[in-house]
Amino acid sequence: MSLIFHPLFEKNSSTYTYLLADSHTKEAIIIDAVDETQQRDIGLIEELGLDLKYIIETHVHADHITSSCPLKQKFKNAKIVLGAENSVACADILIKDGESLQFGAYAVNTMATPGHTNGCVSFVCEDKVFTGDSLLIRSCGRCDFQGGSAEKLFDSIQKIFTLTDKVLVYPAHDYGGRTVSSIGEEKQFNEMIGGGVDKEEFVRRVNAMVLSLPKKIHVAVPANQVCGSKILSDG
Ligand SMILES: [Fe+2]
Repeated sequence: MSLIFHPLFEKNSSTYTYLLADSHTKEAIIIDAVDETQQRDIGLIEELGLDLKYIIETHVHADHITSSCPLKQKFKNAKIVLGAENSVACADILIKDGESLQFGAYAVNTMATPGHTNGCVSFVCEDKVFTGDSLLIRSCGRCDFQGGSAEKLFDSIQKIFTLTDKVLVYPAHDYGGRTVSSIGEEKQFNEMIGGGVDKEEFVRRVNAMVLSLPKKIHVAVPANQVCGSKILSDG
């Protein structure tokens, strides 16, 4: 028995999707699957003969549309999972801090990590943490929409930093092609919070980020509130 682990990438939004499975029972989970790459992901799940149990979102994304609804239509036993603070009717499970989901001999444990959005969660599995947009490689998520709060994000990242230094960090995005980091590296080198930056300075840095709104925000947020099922839009 071993853990099957496939990091996957969607280049338009620089999003990472993660497919994990128990090699013996074939039970699988997918984290942050993207609309554009759903055929690739479905193909891989079928090719590996996996039994998809959970379709997990780290948060309601503003920059891309999820494929959770189409994946559920394809893999009928799978359940859509979001953090408990998201008012998303299409979720089968609104998961709370400390709760876990089992797939074969493995489990993912939920860590509520609000700040980028109020509903953000991270997931820990074995020696890996999937941090969504809470902790990015050398950076962190923005806090200027969807109930974002730099103060909360500081506390959430400190919570993530209670994991041991060797734990590998897999974010929802990287815009520079980096694929993985570790808690130890981020504690030391993260440009927003590394090296012992205090809350006041962190909040100042987050609020100083100069960012335009994600191109897809007005389409992606409403679409993701219905888990990527087709919705009518007047533009
Ligand atoms: Fe995000």
